[in-house]
Amino acid sequence: MKRVFSGMRPSGQLHIGNYLGALKNWVELQKKYDCFFCIVDYHAITTPFKPAEMKRNILELAKSYLASGIDPKKSVIFIQSDVSEHAELTWILNTITPIGELKRMTQFKEKSKQYPGYINIALLDYPVLMAADILLYKAEIVPVGEDQLQHLELTRTIARRFNKIFGQTFPEPKAILTKAPRVMSLTDPTKKMSKTDGEGIALIDSKETIWKKLSTAVTDPARIKRTDPGEPKKCNIYTLHQSFSSKEELDYVADGCRKAKIGCLECKKILAENIAKELAPFRKKYTELSKNEDLVYKILVDGAKRAKKIASQTLIEVKRKIGLLI
Ligand code: AMP
Ligand code: TRP
Repeated sequence: MKRVFSGMRPSGQLHIGNYLGALKNWVELQKKYDCFFCIVDYHAITTPFKPAEMKRNILELAKSYLASGIDPKKSVIFIQSDVSEHAELTWILNTITPIGELKRMTQFKEKSKQYPGYINIALLDYPVLMAADILLYKAEIVPVGEDQLQHLELTRTIARRFNKIFGQTFPEPKAILTKAPRVMSLTDPTKKMSKTDGEGIALIDSKETIWKKLSTAVTDPARIKRTDPGEPKKCNIYTLHQSFSSKEELDYVADGCRKAKIGCLECKKILAENIAKELAPFRKKYTELSKNEDLVYKILVDGAKRAKKIASQTLIEVKRKIGLLI
Protein backbone atom coordinates (compact mmCIF):
# COMPACT_ATOMS: atom_id res chain seq x y z
CA MET A 1 0.00 0.00 0.00
CA LYS A 2 1.35 3.43 -0.92
CA ARG A 3 2.14 5.74 1.94
CA VAL A 4 0.73 9.22 2.57
CA PHE A 5 2.36 11.83 4.80
CA SER A 6 1.16 15.28 5.76
CA GLY A 7 1.34 17.68 8.66
CA MET A 8 0.16 20.96 10.10
CA ARG A 9 1.72 23.36 12.55
CA PRO A 10 0.19 23.60 16.02
CA SER A 11 -0.09 27.36 15.77
CA GLY A 12 -3.75 28.14 16.42
CA GLN A 13 -7.23 27.00 15.51
CA LEU A 14 -7.66 25.48 12.06
CA HIS A 15 -9.74 27.45 9.58
CA ILE A 16 -11.78 26.49 6.54
CA GLY A 17 -8.67 27.08 4.36
CA ASN A 18 -6.85 24.26 6.15
CA TYR A 19 -9.98 22.15 5.87
CA LEU A 20 -10.82 22.74 2.21
CA GLY A 21 -7.18 22.91 1.13
CA ALA A 22 -5.80 19.86 2.92
CA LEU A 23 -7.67 18.15 5.75
CA LYS A 24 -10.65 17.15 3.60
CA ASN A 25 -8.29 15.15 1.38
CA TRP A 26 -6.65 13.47 4.35
CA VAL A 27 -9.92 11.94 5.47
CA GLU A 28 -10.56 10.51 2.00
CA LEU A 29 -7.02 9.21 1.52
CA GLN A 30 -7.03 7.10 4.65
CA LYS A 31 -9.55 4.80 2.97
CA LYS A 32 -6.99 3.74 0.36
CA TYR A 33 -3.51 4.42 1.75
CA ASP A 34 -1.22 3.90 4.72
CA CYS A 35 -1.44 7.40 6.22
CA PHE A 36 0.78 9.35 8.62
CA PHE A 37 -0.54 12.66 9.92
CA CYS A 38 1.91 14.67 11.94
CA ILE A 39 1.67 17.61 14.33
CA VAL A 40 4.76 19.50 13.25
CA ASP A 41 5.78 21.27 16.45
CA TYR A 42 9.43 21.68 15.39
CA HIS A 43 8.12 23.68 12.42
CA ALA A 44 5.90 25.76 14.70
CA ILE A 45 8.86 27.05 16.73
CA THR A 46 10.56 28.62 13.70
CA THR A 47 8.31 31.70 14.04
CA PRO A 48 7.48 33.55 17.30
CA PHE A 49 5.48 31.42 19.75
CA LYS A 50 4.55 31.30 23.41
CA PRO A 51 5.86 28.23 25.30
CA ALA A 52 2.88 28.39 27.65
CA GLU A 53 0.49 27.97 24.72
CA MET A 54 2.34 25.27 22.81
CA LYS A 55 1.05 22.25 24.74
CA ARG A 56 -2.54 23.44 24.34
CA ASN A 57 -2.05 24.10 20.62
CA ILE A 58 -0.66 20.60 20.11
CA LEU A 59 -3.62 19.04 21.86
CA GLU A 60 -6.13 21.22 20.00
CA LEU A 61 -4.58 20.20 16.68
CA ALA A 62 -4.74 16.51 17.60
CA LYS A 63 -8.41 17.00 18.49
CA SER A 64 -9.00 18.73 15.17
CA TYR A 65 -7.45 15.86 13.22
CA LEU A 66 -9.67 13.39 15.06
CA ALA A 67 -12.80 15.54 14.87
CA SER A 68 -12.43 15.92 11.11
CA GLY A 69 -12.61 12.17 10.75
CA ILE A 70 -9.00 10.94 10.86
CA ASP A 71 -9.33 7.49 12.36
CA PRO A 72 -6.43 6.44 14.61
CA LYS A 73 -7.20 2.80 13.85
CA LYS A 74 -6.44 3.40 10.19
CA SER A 75 -3.94 6.27 10.30
CA VAL A 76 -0.99 7.20 12.46
CA ILE A 77 -1.38 10.54 14.28
CA PHE A 78 1.72 11.74 16.11
CA ILE A 79 3.81 14.67 17.32
CA GLN A 80 6.94 15.39 15.27
CA SER A 81 9.22 16.07 18.26
CA ASP A 82 8.27 12.67 19.75
CA VAL A 83 10.22 11.03 16.93
CA SER A 84 13.77 12.37 17.14
CA GLU A 85 14.68 10.87 13.76
CA HIS A 86 13.00 13.88 12.11
CA ALA A 87 15.70 16.19 13.45
CA GLU A 88 18.47 13.70 12.74
CA LEU A 89 17.54 13.14 9.12
CA THR A 90 17.21 16.92 8.68
CA TRP A 91 20.84 17.27 9.73
CA ILE A 92 21.96 14.74 7.15
CA LEU A 93 19.83 16.26 4.37
CA ASN A 94 21.21 19.69 5.25
CA THR A 95 24.57 18.52 3.97
CA ILE A 96 23.24 18.06 0.44
CA THR A 97 21.06 21.22 0.34
CA PRO A 98 22.62 24.44 -0.99
CA ILE A 99 21.73 27.56 1.03
CA GLY A 100 20.74 29.33 -2.20
CA GLU A 101 17.87 26.89 -2.77
CA LEU A 102 16.45 27.69 0.67
CA LYS A 103 16.85 31.45 0.41
CA ARG A 104 14.71 31.35 -2.71
CA MET A 105 11.68 29.84 -0.96
CA THR A 106 8.63 32.11 -1.03
CA GLN A 107 7.54 31.16 2.48
CA PHE A 108 10.99 32.02 3.87
CA LYS A 109 10.86 35.43 2.18
CA GLU A 110 7.32 36.08 3.42
CA LYS A 111 8.02 35.06 7.01
CA SER A 112 11.28 37.04 7.02
CA LYS A 113 9.26 40.10 6.06
CA GLN A 114 6.55 39.33 8.61
CA TYR A 115 9.03 38.76 11.48
CA PRO A 116 12.16 40.80 10.67
CA GLY A 117 13.54 40.30 14.18
CA TYR A 118 13.18 36.52 14.01
CA ILE A 119 15.04 35.38 10.90
CA ASN A 120 16.72 32.32 12.38
CA ILE A 121 18.53 29.35 10.81
CA ALA A 122 15.60 27.03 11.51
CA LEU A 123 13.25 29.27 9.53
CA LEU A 124 15.61 28.95 6.57
CA ASP A 125 15.89 25.21 7.18
CA TYR A 126 12.11 24.71 7.46
CA PRO A 127 11.77 23.02 4.02
CA VAL A 128 14.58 20.54 4.80
CA LEU A 129 12.80 19.48 7.99
CA MET A 130 9.66 19.07 5.87
CA ALA A 131 11.62 16.91 3.40
CA ALA A 132 12.89 14.79 6.31
CA ASP A 133 9.31 14.37 7.59
CA ILE A 134 8.18 12.96 4.27
CA LEU A 135 11.26 10.95 3.32
CA LEU A 136 11.60 9.19 6.70
CA TYR A 137 8.39 7.34 5.85
CA LYS A 138 9.23 7.02 2.15
CA ALA A 139 5.85 8.60 1.52
CA GLU A 140 4.77 8.86 -2.11
CA ILE A 141 1.72 11.08 -1.68
CA VAL A 142 1.58 14.40 0.18
CA PRO A 143 -1.82 16.14 0.42
CA VAL A 144 -1.26 19.87 1.01
CA GLY A 145 -2.56 23.29 0.00
CA GLU A 146 -1.09 25.19 -2.92
CA ASP A 147 1.26 27.24 -0.73
CA GLN A 148 3.30 24.10 0.01
CA LEU A 149 3.97 23.06 -3.60
CA GLN A 150 7.32 24.83 -3.73
CA HIS A 151 8.48 23.03 -0.59
CA LEU A 152 7.38 19.73 -2.04
CA GLU A 153 9.31 20.38 -5.22
CA LEU A 154 12.39 20.90 -3.06
CA THR A 155 11.70 17.61 -1.25
CA ARG A 156 11.73 15.89 -4.63
CA THR A 157 15.02 17.57 -5.53
CA ILE A 158 16.58 16.50 -2.23
CA ALA A 159 15.35 12.89 -2.67
CA ARG A 160 16.71 12.76 -6.21
CA ARG A 161 20.05 14.20 -5.12
CA PHE A 162 20.39 11.79 -2.20
CA ASN A 163 19.58 8.81 -4.44
CA LYS A 164 22.12 9.95 -7.02
CA ILE A 165 24.97 10.44 -4.55
CA PHE A 166 24.33 7.58 -2.13
CA GLY A 167 22.20 5.08 -4.06
CA GLN A 168 18.45 4.58 -4.54
CA THR A 169 16.77 5.17 -1.17
CA PHE A 170 13.76 7.48 -1.41
CA PRO A 171 10.77 7.64 -3.76
CA GLU A 172 10.04 11.13 -5.14
CA PRO A 173 6.82 12.18 -3.39
CA LYS A 174 3.94 13.80 -5.27
CA ALA A 175 1.76 16.60 -3.93
CA ILE A 176 -1.96 16.26 -4.27
CA LEU A 177 -4.32 19.20 -4.12
CA THR A 178 -8.02 19.49 -3.39
CA LYS A 179 -10.52 21.36 -5.57
CA ALA A 180 -9.97 24.43 -3.32
CA PRO A 181 -6.19 24.52 -2.85
CA ARG A 182 -6.08 28.22 -2.02
CA VAL A 183 -8.85 29.73 0.10
CA MET A 184 -8.66 33.51 0.25
CA SER A 185 -9.02 35.87 3.22
CA LEU A 186 -12.51 37.24 3.90
CA THR A 187 -11.22 40.73 4.61
CA ASP A 188 -8.61 40.89 1.83
CA PRO A 189 -9.32 38.39 -0.96
CA THR A 190 -5.93 39.07 -2.55
CA LYS A 191 -4.31 37.22 0.37
CA LYS A 192 -4.80 33.62 1.44
CA MET A 193 -6.77 32.87 4.58
CA SER A 194 -4.29 32.23 7.39
CA LYS A 195 -4.23 31.51 11.10
CA THR A 196 -2.81 34.95 11.80
CA ASP A 197 -5.69 36.58 9.94
CA GLY A 198 -8.28 36.68 12.75
CA GLU A 199 -11.19 36.91 10.32
CA GLY A 200 -10.73 33.39 8.97
CA ILE A 201 -13.61 31.03 9.76
CA ALA A 202 -12.37 28.54 12.35
CA LEU A 203 -13.63 24.96 12.24
CA ILE A 204 -14.92 25.34 15.79
CA ASP A 205 -16.76 28.63 15.15
CA SER A 206 -20.43 28.72 16.14
CA LYS A 207 -23.14 29.57 13.62
CA GLU A 208 -23.30 33.10 15.09
CA THR A 209 -19.54 33.64 14.74
CA ILE A 210 -19.56 32.30 11.19
CA TRP A 211 -22.30 34.77 10.33
CA LYS A 212 -20.49 37.63 12.04
CA LYS A 213 -17.34 36.99 10.03
CA LEU A 214 -19.19 36.48 6.74
CA SER A 215 -21.45 39.49 7.11
CA THR A 216 -18.50 41.89 6.86
CA ALA A 217 -16.58 39.87 4.24
CA VAL A 218 -15.51 41.55 1.01
CA THR A 219 -17.61 40.75 -2.10
CA ASP A 220 -17.43 41.86 -5.75
CA PRO A 221 -16.47 45.56 -5.42
CA ALA A 222 -18.83 46.40 -8.32
CA ARG A 223 -21.81 45.88 -6.01
CA ILE A 224 -21.77 49.10 -4.08
CA LYS A 225 -25.56 49.47 -3.87
CA ARG A 226 -28.03 46.61 -3.46
CA THR A 227 -29.30 47.29 -6.99
CA ASP A 228 -25.84 47.06 -8.63
CA PRO A 229 -25.35 43.81 -10.53
CA GLY A 230 -22.20 41.80 -9.75
CA GLU A 231 -20.05 39.07 -11.21
CA PRO A 232 -19.87 35.88 -9.09
CA LYS A 233 -16.51 34.93 -10.60
CA LYS A 234 -15.03 38.04 -9.02
CA CYS A 235 -16.50 37.30 -5.61
CA ASN A 236 -14.73 35.38 -2.85
CA ILE A 237 -18.11 34.51 -1.32
CA TYR A 238 -19.19 32.78 -4.50
CA THR A 239 -15.94 30.80 -4.53
CA LEU A 240 -16.77 29.60 -1.01
CA HIS A 241 -20.29 28.70 -2.14
CA GLN A 242 -18.67 26.33 -4.63
CA SER A 243 -17.26 24.34 -1.72
CA PHE A 244 -20.28 24.37 0.55
CA SER A 245 -23.49 24.81 -1.47
CA SER A 246 -25.67 22.67 -3.75
CA LYS A 247 -25.89 23.09 -7.52
CA GLU A 248 -29.34 24.71 -7.17
CA GLU A 249 -28.09 27.18 -4.60
CA LEU A 250 -25.09 28.01 -6.77
CA ASP A 251 -27.36 28.75 -9.75
CA TYR A 252 -29.68 30.80 -7.54
CA VAL A 253 -26.97 33.04 -6.08
CA ALA A 254 -25.05 33.40 -9.37
CA ASP A 255 -28.16 34.45 -11.27
CA GLY A 256 -29.37 36.63 -8.38
CA CYS A 257 -26.01 38.41 -8.23
CA ARG A 258 -25.67 38.99 -12.00
CA LYS A 259 -29.21 40.38 -12.22
CA ALA A 260 -29.12 42.13 -8.83
CA LYS A 261 -32.15 40.08 -7.78
CA ILE A 262 -30.60 39.29 -4.42
CA GLY A 263 -28.27 41.31 -2.23
CA CYS A 264 -24.89 40.21 -0.89
CA LEU A 265 -26.38 39.67 2.56
CA GLU A 266 -28.92 37.15 1.32
CA CYS A 267 -26.19 35.35 -0.58
CA LYS A 268 -23.97 35.29 2.51
CA LYS A 269 -26.81 34.00 4.69
CA ILE A 270 -27.18 30.91 2.52
CA LEU A 271 -23.42 30.35 2.71
CA ALA A 272 -23.33 30.82 6.50
CA GLU A 273 -26.08 28.20 6.90
CA ASN A 274 -24.25 25.73 4.72
CA ILE A 275 -20.86 26.21 6.37
CA ALA A 276 -22.43 25.80 9.81
CA LYS A 277 -24.20 22.64 8.62
CA GLU A 278 -21.04 21.11 7.18
CA LEU A 279 -18.96 21.92 10.26
CA ALA A 280 -21.58 20.76 12.79
CA PRO A 281 -20.29 17.15 13.04
CA PHE A 282 -16.75 18.51 13.51
CA ARG A 283 -17.84 20.76 16.39
CA LYS A 284 -19.77 17.95 18.01
CA LYS A 285 -16.84 15.51 17.90
CA TYR A 286 -14.43 18.23 19.03
CA THR A 287 -16.56 18.99 22.08
CA GLU A 288 -16.76 15.29 22.91
CA LEU A 289 -12.99 14.90 22.66
CA SER A 290 -12.51 17.93 24.91
CA LYS A 291 -14.19 15.95 27.66
CA ASN A 292 -11.80 13.05 27.16
CA GLU A 293 -8.36 14.52 26.51
CA ASP A 294 -6.63 11.52 28.12
CA LEU A 295 -7.78 9.48 25.16
CA VAL A 296 -6.19 12.03 22.80
CA TYR A 297 -2.87 11.77 24.65
CA LYS A 298 -3.03 7.98 24.41
CA ILE A 299 -3.57 8.18 20.65
CA LEU A 300 -0.53 10.45 20.32
CA VAL A 301 1.71 8.16 22.39
CA ASP A 302 0.64 5.15 20.38
CA GLY A 303 1.10 7.09 17.12
CA ALA A 304 4.65 8.09 18.06
CA LYS A 305 5.51 4.43 18.71
CA ARG A 306 4.18 3.36 15.32
CA ALA A 307 5.94 6.24 13.55
CA LYS A 308 9.25 5.65 15.32
CA LYS A 309 9.35 2.05 14.17
CA ILE A 310 9.50 3.09 10.53
CA ALA A 311 11.50 6.29 11.02
CA SER A 312 14.28 4.48 12.88
CA GLN A 313 14.59 1.87 10.14
CA THR A 314 14.95 4.55 7.48
CA LEU A 315 17.50 6.45 9.52
CA ILE A 316 19.63 3.32 9.95
CA GLU A 317 19.44 2.71 6.20
CA VAL A 318 20.47 6.32 5.51
CA LYS A 319 23.37 6.21 7.98
CA ARG A 320 24.61 2.99 6.40
CA LYS A 321 24.40 4.48 2.92
CA ILE A 322 26.50 7.49 3.89
CA GLY A 323 28.99 5.35 5.77
CA LEU A 324 28.17 6.33 9.34
CA LEU A 325 27.08 2.91 10.60
CA ILE A 326 29.56 0.09 10.36
P1 AMP B 1 -0.59 25.71 8.09
O1 AMP B 1 -1.77 26.22 8.79
O2 AMP B 1 0.16 26.76 7.38
O3 AMP B 1 0.27 24.79 8.93
O4 AMP B 1 -1.13 24.80 6.91
C1 AMP B 1 -1.61 23.50 7.05
C2 AMP B 1 -2.16 22.99 5.73
O5 AMP B 1 -3.27 23.77 5.31
C3 AMP B 1 -1.16 23.03 4.57
O6 AMP B 1 -1.33 21.89 3.76
C4 AMP B 1 -1.53 24.28 3.85
O7 AMP B 1 -1.17 24.23 2.48
C5 AMP B 1 -3.04 24.30 4.02
N1 AMP B 1 -3.56 25.68 3.97
C6 AMP B 1 -3.25 26.69 4.84
N2 AMP B 1 -3.91 27.83 4.50
C7 AMP B 1 -4.64 27.53 3.40
C8 AMP B 1 -5.53 28.28 2.57
N3 AMP B 1 -5.81 29.56 2.81
N4 AMP B 1 -6.10 27.66 1.52
C9 AMP B 1 -5.85 26.34 1.26
N5 AMP B 1 -5.02 25.58 2.00
C10 AMP B 1 -4.42 26.16 3.06
N1 TRP C 1 5.04 23.10 5.91
C1 TRP C 1 3.70 22.64 6.05
C2 TRP C 1 2.79 23.91 6.25
O1 TRP C 1 3.23 24.97 6.54
C3 TRP C 1 3.55 21.73 7.22
C4 TRP C 1 4.37 20.50 7.06
C5 TRP C 1 5.50 20.16 7.74
C6 TRP C 1 4.13 19.43 6.13
N2 TRP C 1 5.98 18.96 7.33
C7 TRP C 1 5.17 18.49 6.35
C8 TRP C 1 3.15 19.21 5.18
C9 TRP C 1 5.26 17.32 5.60
C10 TRP C 1 3.25 18.03 4.42
C11 TRP C 1 4.29 17.11 4.63
O2 TRP C 1 1.63 23.79 6.10
